[in-house]
Amino acid sequence: MLAPSYLPESKHTLITELAEGLESNALSWLSGYFAGVAQVRQAGRLAPPPVVAAVPGTAAAKRLTIVYGSQTGNAKRVAESLAERTEELGLNVRLLRADRYPTRELKEEQLLYIVISTQGDGEAPDDSLAFVEFLSSRRAPKLPQLKYAVLGLGDSSYPSFCGIAQNIDARLAELGAERLQEVGAADLDIETVALPWQAAVIGHAQKALKQAEAPAASVTPLRPQASKATREQPFLAELLLNQPITGRGSDKDVRHLEISLEGSHIEYQPGDALGVWPTQSPALVERVLDVLNLDGEESIEVNHVKRSLKEWLSRHRELTQLTKPFLTAHAELSGDANLHALLQPQSIDALKAVLESRQLIDILKAYPAKWTGAALVKALRPLTPRMYSIASSQSVVENEVHLTLANVAYEYEGEARWGAASNFLAHLPEGGQVPVFVEENQRFRLPSDSSRDIIMIGPGTGIAPFRAFVQERGAAGASGRNWLFFGNPHFSSDFLYQTEWQRALQDGHLHRLDLAFSRDQAEKVYVQDKLLERAGDLYDWIQGGAHVYVCGDATRMARDVQQALLRIARQEGGLDEAQAKEWLDDLAAQGRYARDVY
Ligand SMILES: Cc1cc2nc3c(=O)[nH]c(=O)nc-3n(C[C@H](O)[C@H](O)[C@H](O)COP(=O)(O)OP(=O)(O)OC[C@H]3O[C@@H](n4cnc5c(N)ncnc54)[C@H](O)[C@@H]3O)c2cc1C
Ligand SMILES: Cc1cc2nc3c(=O)[nH]c(=O)nc-3n(C[C@H](O)[C@H](O)[C@H](O)COP(=O)(O)O)c2cc1C
Repeated sequence: MLAPSYLPESKHTLITELAEGLESNALSWLSGYFAGVAQVRQAGRLAPPPVVAAVPGTAAAKRLTIVYGSQTGNAKRVAESLAERTEELGLNVRLLRADRYPTRELKEEQLLYIVISTQGDGEAPDDSLAFVEFLSSRRAPKLPQLKYAVLGLGDSSYPSFCGIAQNIDARLAELGAERLQEVGAADLDIETVALPWQAAVIGHAQKALKQAEAPAASVTPLRPQASKATREQPFLAELLLNQPITGRGSDKDVRHLEISLEGSHIEYQPGDALGVWPTQSPALVERVLDVLNLDGEESIEVNHVKRSLKEWLSRHRELTQLTKPFLTAHAELSGDANLHALLQPQSIDALKAVLESRQLIDILKAYPAKWTGAALVKALRPLTPRMYSIASSQSVVENEVHLTLANVAYEYEGEARWGAASNFLAHLPEGGQVPVFVEENQRFRLPSDSSRDIIMIGPGTGIAPFRAFVQERGAAGASGRNWLFFGNPHFSSDFLYQTEWQRALQDGHLHRLDLAFSRDQAEKVYVQDKLLERAGDLYDWIQGGAHVYVCGDATRMARDVQQALLRIARQEGGLDEAQAKEWLDDLAAQGRYARDVY
């Protein structure tokens, strides 16, 4: 076979030698491997380049390494900001995503800062699984030469609050490294903890890298991302369409939203998410004011910002999510013995259940207490934006962005309850305005080689990014095949985008579709069951270089799908348990097994 002009002859010879004597499954694996390498490199080119401020004459030992692990971009943003601030101070710094950190360099590392979120039930983000596993394994070297600091990002309503950061911090100390700064545990109001932590560790870095003459560290708010609208300065977009896509009789209210980006210069890629800043429902704000007998017009100043109490509650504070710090403050104020008991270490499971199923209003009603407006605003958690996987490709919809929204609505003791953002979006009239920004997700990207096959597993609203993928591949004329697994309770009411998938099948933009309608028969059937039914073909596609994507529910679905993939590798590839795990880890490392789960 003739070598193409872009392949140097020496490499061509090596590849020919490498291929000699290999069987077809090994050749397929290699082809997939190289496609994965291309994908990772492509992602590397698209990602902001690692910050490396080369300080003349500075040896590698005089370098700060910042490693981040992030599922939805928060830890990445904080780590990038830290890298930029230290670079501005003339320090020699390199910034790496955890899966790009060469762990063999750890034993030489002198100064290491880690910024990492916690996911799942106290699990590492996908990009950090291997890094965290390495650190906790016996292979991790002793680290007497290392000075370090760890910042965790998390959500205090989870029992394992910033658990991964705490584990890493403890493990580095156990390996003999010197802790420069207490581990930071940032709640969803990230900056409250991240900014002082950042200021402290910049000071330590200046000292450790002996840049005493450099200007003192001053910390500005976290730098926004490179996109046109940012989390801090979102674009006020117009809602064009708000269409229910679940039918009569469905247990769910799922909507297809179309939002105009006209005039924003916002660009996004299939795989990205849209950040949305909600406004709390006026009825809920009134209810809270009413129960506490507070005046919404009262002016309240917090951190030098003055707003009416109603404005604080409507746009700046969480009312639908409970946190442990709020419950603690409320227990003090109410003096209620049951609430105090709930906060004891032995009640962890009961506390978890309360945090998951009760809202602020339920607690205010059940345990009366006398709050002032100012104390309430300080005790409630600042409102944070919600993420929604983008369900459209700009190659097709141009200046629009589409979402697939599940409206969170339920009853508690006969009263209506709802989720802040989904309620806001579901009730937003067409023509209404919504503050938005794009949250990039470099780890959830279509293959750079469009002749690669893709396998998309997206039950429920997990379907959203795959609508974007299929639109994009259709518009680009990609020759690779697209296989979709979708599931929901009922065919008749919950088949999201049914007509679009049927058209895509006819047009040749979708090649295979497997459906799991769980409650249409006596025995429940889920996407993971469909994967097992198709085990042979699935394994062939993957061994032939296909990329696998999973989107949707993190708690059960993503785990069950992962178990199904491991079982398929054992069954079809004849691998044992350890080999199957290695096979899947390998796919993930090549960027060929990507998850966007929540
Ligand atoms: C990367 C990413 C992508 C996402 N993509 C999508 C997407 O494409 N589509 C989508 O719809 N969502 C998506 N989500 C989820 C979305 O971000 C929000 O979490 C979701 O819309 C709920 O937010 P909310 O503000 O409506 O509810 P919140 O106000 O955050 O929460 C409501 C409260 O009600 C409680 N609660 C909810 N249901 C019940 C119940 N039945 N019984 C008792 N208590 C209950 C909850 O515990 C919570 O305390 C995604 C999330 C991430 C991280
Ligand atoms: C599905 C899911 C599970 C989560 N589990 C935890 C958890 O166990 N502990 C915790 O402290 N935070 C948890 N969080 C909160 C995230 O850590 C928090 O939102 C963080 O800011 C995300 O940072 P990232 O965007 O860098 O991943 C979870 C968030 C999601 C969406």
